[in-house]
Amino acid sequence: MQSNLSIIILAAGKGTRMKSSIPKVLHKMSGKEMLYYSIEEAKKLSNDIHVVLYHQAELVQSSMEKYFQDIQYHIQDHEKYPGTGGAVMGITPKNEKVLVLNGDMPLIEAEELKQLTQDDNTHQAQNQKLTMSVLNLDCADGYGRVIIEKGKVTKIIEQKDCSSYELDIVTANAGIYCFDTKFLLESLPKLSNDNAQSEYYITDLVEIAVDSDLSIKPVVVKEENFKGVNSKFDLANAEVIHQNRIKTNFLKAGITMKLPDTIYIEHGVLIEGETILENGVTLLGNSKISNSIIKTNSIVEDSILENSDIGPMARIRPLSILKDTHIGNFVEVKKSKLTGVKAGHLAYLGDSCIDEGTNVGAGTITCNYDGINKHKTIIGKNVFIGSDTQLVAPVTIEDNAMIAAGSTITNDVKSGDLALSRTKQKTIAGFFHKFFKQSKN
Ligand code: UD1
Ligand code: CA
Repeated sequence: MQSNLSIIILAAGKGTRMKSSIPKVLHKMSGKEMLYYSIEEAKKLSNDIHVVLYHQAELVQSSMEKYFQDIQYHIQDHEKYPGTGGAVMGITPKNEKVLVLNGDMPLIEAEELKQLTQDDNTHQAQNQKLTMSVLNLDCADGYGRVIIEKGKVTKIIEQKDCSSYELDIVTANAGIYCFDTKFLLESLPKLSNDNAQSEYYITDLVEIAVDSDLSIKPVVVKEENFKGVNSKFDLANAEVIHQNRIKTNFLKAGITMKLPDTIYIEHGVLIEGETILENGVTLLGNSKISNSIIKTNSIVEDSILENSDIGPMARIRPLSILKDTHIGNFVEVKKSKLTGVKAGHLAYLGDSCIDEGTNVGAGTITCNYDGINKHKTIIGKNVFIGSDTQLVAPVTIEDNAMIAAGSTITNDVKSGDLALSRTKQKTIAGFFHKFFKQSKN
């Protein structure tokens, strides 16, 4: 936290190139909206955070309020003051310095931003009222070009305003700036919209600073982290980079992964202990996995796994808690608490609570939904549930009970009892031969 720093995040843009009715900054990367990441990183640096909105402002604000309190939202006067310069007009940051971030740069990290925000105690710093992020590229297509004369930044020219000579410049404006707040507030009224897009450009503040004999400090940043997301193509590429970061952290912490490129882990998932993730595993939401083995192509969403193994091809849906449990292939678990349970194959266990030592046979289904409401299935300790059982909830099976294979259980079963509900088998001797002989005639 830097006590002299305020932050403004620009998120008013529509995001036309996303070709979507959802505002750009609400598109998700690793399970969270792009703007979520900008705010999360900003909060590590400052407690005075302003977010500028315009397009679908209410939706963007309410989406962020699910995660963050104490953020100030501003609606840009987009009709009169369009553009990145217009976006910061009318905001009064309370601290001495203000960092301006873009809501469509979900890969920036607080640690890296410190290069722009931390105090510079050199002599020449006195005259510096603006620090800007710069990219050295092979081709700066799509970016504003940074004009450097005699080693000093003098101007930023937007691509649409560039001459053919200026288009060849490969030093690009990464779009993140740290201003002296007083300089920013005094200079904004001097911006004009006399340019190709008839917008108020924040980038023109560079020229205004130079005209007042102030120097600009350029900080060269890594392209990968400062990439703006403007299209679905950019979003997909950003997510690959983000996924690699998430997985690298877990690998370094001692988690085993087979073919990590095929594994998808959302931001917010916790993994610890001796955990193995096989190829194709998907871990979503706020799942917490400890000392467990997740086999090929299994999905875990918003659930807790402890000392358990699941899959291949198991699906653990939200609000499940599995401890010391074995879940085999094609088993779906939802909102259930399983402790010391074995469910080896092909089952649906929803809204249930199953206790230690219980074996759930293949094809077992908790019939939890009556078309209107969901009901609970409670199964005690050391219960043996034969294959192809339907447990029509609400229903309770007490400890040490047995259910015969193929049963439909509609009544509670007491401890020690066997429940069986199937029609008695009838066998007709020689029927096969009689039947096919008749058909041929
Ligand atoms: C901007 C810079 C460009 C830089 C590039 C880096 C300007 C004029 N240009 O261009 O020099 O190379 O970023 O990625 O600043 N926004 C608003 N209100 C507006 C317009 C934009 O809040 O009226 C927000 C957008 O939501 C976005 C950010 O500002 O988060 C940047 O806007 P965008 O239109 O993407 O700017 P670029 O054309 O990429
Ligand atoms: Ca952009």
